[in-house]
Amino acid sequence: MSAKTIAVACDHGGIELKQILIQDLAGFGWKVLDLGTNGPESVDYPDFAVTLADALKSGRAERGILLCGTGIGISIAANRFDHVRAALVHDAFGARMSRQHNDANVLVMGGRTIGSEVARDCLKIFLETDFEGGRHARRVSKLSNTH
Ligand code: RB5
Repeated sequence: MSAKTIAVACDHGGIELKQILIQDLAGFGWKVLDLGTNGPESVDYPDFAVTLADALKSGRAERGILLCGTGIGISIAANRFDHVRAALVHDAFGARMSRQHNDANVLVMGGRTIGSEVARDCLKIFLETDFEGGRHARRVSKLSNTH
């Protein structure tokens, strides 16, 4: 079975955490599509949310990770797309719920607000936890602009 692909993108506030998480992803059996940013220059987080949303839409990636300083701006930007369910997560419980109840396809964290070990734990849980479906499927379907 071929590895699934996860797209990863960040602004300058998330670069260090992105590098840490990318190292873990191969070990979890995921192929990484690194969409930047990769330098210290100040960039605009909405541009990276758009690039990642495009990668999901086109099928180049099945899941995504977005990082900015707080995770707030980049999650707002990503959730403007109907096919994106981006969950801003701060701890293991949130990571688990984002999958079980919300079927989140994008994990968002703040490079300046979360410790790297907590972030690594959140990533592992996000990748390993299945959506529960049932009543949650009805609720998730109501998140769409097309209902
Ligand atoms: C950039 O300085 C910062 O505003 C950005 O990384 C993010 O925290 C926005 O929500």
